[in-house]
Amino acid sequence: MRFMPEPWRVKVVEPIRLPDREERERDLVAAGFNLFMVPSEAVFIDLFTDSGTSAMSDNQWAGMMIGDEAYAGARNYFHLEETVHEIFGFPYMVPVHQGRVAENLLFSHLVEPGSIVPSNNHFDTTRANIEVNGGEALDLVIDEGRDPEADHPFKGNIDLDKLRNLFETTPRERIPLAMLTLTNNSGGGQPVSLANVRAMSELCKELGVPFYLDACRFAENAWFIKQREEGQSGRTVAEIARETFSYADGCTMSAKKDGLANMGGFLASRDQGLIETIKQRMVVIEGFPTYGGLAGRDLEAVSRGLREVLEEDYLAYRTGQVAAFGRALTEAGVPIVQPPGGHAVYIDARHFLPEIPQAHFPAQALVVALYREGAVRGVEIGSVMFGHDDPETGDPVFAPMELVRLAVPRRVYTNSHLKYVVEVLEEIKQHKDRLKGLKIVSQAKVLRHFTARFEEIG
Ligand SMILES: Cc1ncc(COP(=O)(O)O)c(C=O)c1O
Repeated sequence: MRFMPEPWRVKVVEPIRLPDREERERDLVAAGFNLFMVPSEAVFIDLFTDSGTSAMSDNQWAGMMIGDEAYAGARNYFHLEETVHEIFGFPYMVPVHQGRVAENLLFSHLVEPGSIVPSNNHFDTTRANIEVNGGEALDLVIDEGRDPEADHPFKGNIDLDKLRNLFETTPRERIPLAMLTLTNNSGGGQPVSLANVRAMSELCKELGVPFYLDACRFAENAWFIKQREEGQSGRTVAEIARETFSYADGCTMSAKKDGLANMGGFLASRDQGLIETIKQRMVVIEGFPTYGGLAGRDLEAVSRGLREVLEEDYLAYRTGQVAAFGRALTEAGVPIVQPPGGHAVYIDARHFLPEIPQAHFPAQALVVALYREGAVRGVEIGSVMFGHDDPETGDPVFAPMELVRLAVPRRVYTNSHLKYVVEVLEEIKQHKDRLKGLKIVSQAKVLRHFTARFEEIG
């Protein structure tokens, strides 16, 4: 079977509409060719992100009705605390309204000017939260993880030799923590093996460096471990997840991904002192520690979502749908990062559009073409997101890869929606030599991709 049937049936529908070509052109110009600026109603198939875009189950919606909206000690907080304890094994946690707040709270406590925080690949918000505290976010993914064509079952793994070398050549006090992103979103949604997590944990213990996981897509990661890692196929995903987290000192979590919720997250740890200090800071910026910027009903949706996401029928379908989407694109001659990741397919725009130089943002050019051709929204993960101008020379510094991420929201689009996207790309491929590069005409200093405005070149 090429596309696996969905293990759910539709109970509620939300109409979507394909705007005509003129409207699309107008929207692109008004948005400064930045898809962050296009209204959602002008998008037909929105593959911008898998974050906060999941369709909740009837069980989650039912849970929303028992939301306890008390300021302190809401019952749903205790449900979430119990769920986090059971699934992740961490004794202390605080809820937050989304993952970057967990990062902000953790890094503003641990990171200072001169700090280095290694990871496989930091996500953009993680990187920004380290950098605003004066630290350096260092990416040490294995070489295969930087090569879109390399075949490796765990392209999200961290390079342990590089990590050891960093630990041996850097004063211990400059490394306040080390991280791993599961799965590795910036590197193509690629998983990290259990063996890699274990080995990194041992190295961190040896050197006394706290080890935190960015757990956004922990269930998809555990599913890949079950499928691909020797000796893991007979275990449940829940057991694999539990072992994964047993090697860490804590985690940051955006429940907008594998929490199957539209909002929410948490910071969890084994360090009671750290969580107590963070609770004090939290009251100022996020809310009382038993609600963390969320309504009681949101806490319940997250708590139920975290349990549902470990259902293996769901994970088989979820990763199967993304894999089939990737296969269909490959068959259509669109180069993608191989193998497809857990939550998204990443098109290798440099390979697809070799005539557009990196300085003219080939991945952004493809994002524009996807909207222009079919009102499909994807996101650039390349030199717009990760490039910058060298502060000394003013020369542009490019990202290692120019990718377009087509993220598949959880339980939202059927397989025929994804077939439509494949057809749009087939259409683009016919005239790809006519696509135009872009130049940035205005940009912010931090996270420029959210608000930058572009002009087409030529
Ligand atoms: C790997 C990773 N970490 C952190 C975040 C930040 O989470 P949030 O958007 O909930 O702040 C994201 C969001 O996409 C992510 O993919």
